[in-house]
Amino acid sequence: MSVRSETPADPPLPSPSPAGQLGSFLEEDHDRLDALWVRATLAWPRDQVEARQLFEEFRIGLLRHIRVEEEVLFPFYNARSSPSSRHLTDLLHAEHREIMAALARLMAVVNGGPQDLEEAETVLRNVLWAHNAREEGLLYPWFDPTDDPDLLRLGADVRARLFVSPAGATPPR
Ligand SMILES: [Fe+2]
Ligand SMILES: [Fe+2]
Repeated sequence: MSVRSETPADPPLPSPSPAGQLGSFLEEDHDRLDALWVRATLAWPRDQVEARQLFEEFRIGLLRHIRVEEEVLFPFYNARSSPSSRHLTDLLHAEHREIMAALARLMAVVNGGPQDLEEAETVLRNVLWAHNAREEGLLYPWFDPTDDPDLLRLGADVRARLFVSPAGATPPR
């Protein structure tokens, strides 16, 4: 059996479709990251090498997702929406800080040895799932229309930043 064949199948990748429904694409990225996390958790502590690799992939993907939202999506949304819309992005921004802190704690436990991850995972899960549900319910649908050229251009930019090619090439961090 080759080393490659012992490696679990690659996780589903975000759709590389060039246009349309940016909100749905971002929701798919949530799902992709969730699937990575589940695979990492299932591998822990049985196969720590594989689990650490998966957790690291999850960490990089989640931080990239957050950065795209903060650098691209939120500014675009705030510029196009009413001033009160900033309450939503301010809340999402604050949740990102909580998610990043919880992620750092989880990774510290993962990299510390074969310890029980439950407490660190629960903290991250609670904040991340509530956050993702808020984005998927309140923010992402706003990005779905496909008849706005500015949104289509934004979608192409976001896809280029988030898409991880099947060949393993990744966008710049
Ligand atoms: Fe977010
Ligand atoms: Fe998100």
